[in-house]
Amino acid sequence: MDSSPMDFAGALVEQIEVGVILLDHDLRILHWNTFVSQRSGKALAPARGQPLVSVFPEADTNRLEQMVAKARDEGLHAYTHWREDPYLIQMHYGPEGQTSPLRLQSTLFFPFDCQGQRCFGLLLYDTTEFARSNEELTTALNALGSKQLEQEQLMHKLEKANAQLLQSEKLAAIGQLAAGVAHEINNPIGYVFSNLKTLTGYVNDLLRIVDAVDGVSSLDELQQLKRSLEYDYIRNDVEALIHESEDGIERVKKIITALKDFSHIEEEEFRAADLHKGFDSTLNLVNNELKYKAEVVREYGDLPPVECIPSQINQVVMNLLINAAHAIEGFGRISLRSSHEGDWIWLEVEDNGKGIDPAILNRIYEPFFTTKPVGKGTGLGLALSYNIVQKHNGRIEVFSSPGQGTRFRVWLPTRQPLPDGAPT
Ligand SMILES: Nc1ncnc2c1ncn2[C@@H]1O[C@H](COP(=O)(O)OP(=O)(O)OP(=O)(O)O)[C@@H](O)[C@H]1O
Ligand SMILES: [Mg+2]
Repeated sequence: MDSSPMDFAGALVEQIEVGVILLDHDLRILHWNTFVSQRSGKALAPARGQPLVSVFPEADTNRLEQMVAKARDEGLHAYTHWREDPYLIQMHYGPEGQTSPLRLQSTLFFPFDCQGQRCFGLLLYDTTEFARSNEELTTALNALGSKQLEQEQLMHKLEKANAQLLQSEKLAAIGQLAAGVAHEINNPIGYVFSNLKTLTGYVNDLLRIVDAVDGVSSLDELQQLKRSLEYDYIRNDVEALIHESEDGIERVKKIITALKDFSHIEEEEFRAADLHKGFDSTLNLVNNELKYKAEVVREYGDLPPVECIPSQINQVVMNLLINAAHAIEGFGRISLRSSHEGDWIWLEVEDNGKGIDPAILNRIYEPFFTTKPVGKGTGLGLALSYNIVQKHNGRIEVFSSPGQGTRFRVWLPTRQPLPDGAPT
């Protein structure tokens, strides 16, 4: 092939499905390609040398003037877009001979040099398909937008429902706590009350014996009275009743103290503390309860100061240690460990006691849930601990295998987040 690049360019311009119009410096028509002839229905020969706007009067618009100015004065390419004006020059698109409805057009007007002269090119493209897909896109985007709105509204509703649920859960928890307190206190109060009644009867009998000391004529008579009032029985029973009543009152006291702890959780101040010191003093405190049940092993890691209410964390550790001791049937082993990871620390109490039945694992933090015999546990230890840890923005984990032992791990952040609304 020995065709010149110009031949290729000419062939391309003739065959491309884009309107190409070449204009001289005064916007007179120099040439246009076959596409323009076919689609405009106008012949090129008579149009040559004519001003563009006299051949295509519809193009005589402000927009064209602006494009020309841009190309002529600034030497720039100027585009129009189907969005601004549907078309510049009216053309039929579609197969030859068939007129199709008005199509959307984009145009490019640009300056170029031709044989030393400033000329202009005008390209006309059909952008109907593009516009259509663009519209589809817009519709899809709108649909997406409204879906998103719907989703946001749903989220909002969900948040509201969640807040309501939390509120009602809180109320339910308070109700549960109150019912538990009533139930737990009712029993000891009941028997203390009935013991008091029995004791009143005994005291009356004893007073009768004491009063008789002054009135009886012989010791025999007094002994007779003592026997008839079953003095020996009373004597034994009084002791038992008083002992039982003391236990009952002790139990009520324990429940009241635990409840007080619940309600006082927010009163103390957070401060940076050395937890290991707290562990040691807690161990000293519960040593009596532990020493016959287990060997206590301290495996302390490195702990940074932890922002907490130390007395409350000690209380958590104490509850865990006592639970561990209670879980051990013979003599066992309790490990107290600690470590830190990033901005968190953990402490761990592990025992090799009887473990927790998986069926009750999700109930152990419930207030008053206990598997200990009546009168032994209040079932408040873990509930209180859970509450404390939550107030510290931490969490408790439990791992237990029945027959092998239990490990409680408490995670605490080393620093507390600022309260909402606090200045930063
Ligand atoms: N280390 C453990 N091993 C086995 N079971 C445990 C352990 N810790 C807790 N539990 C189970 O969880 C229950 C609830 O514990 P929690 O400390 O709340 O109450 P409690 O120990 O029964 O009574 P309280 O602590 O009020 O005296 C216990 O009764 C026990 O069944
Ligand atoms: Mg306990």
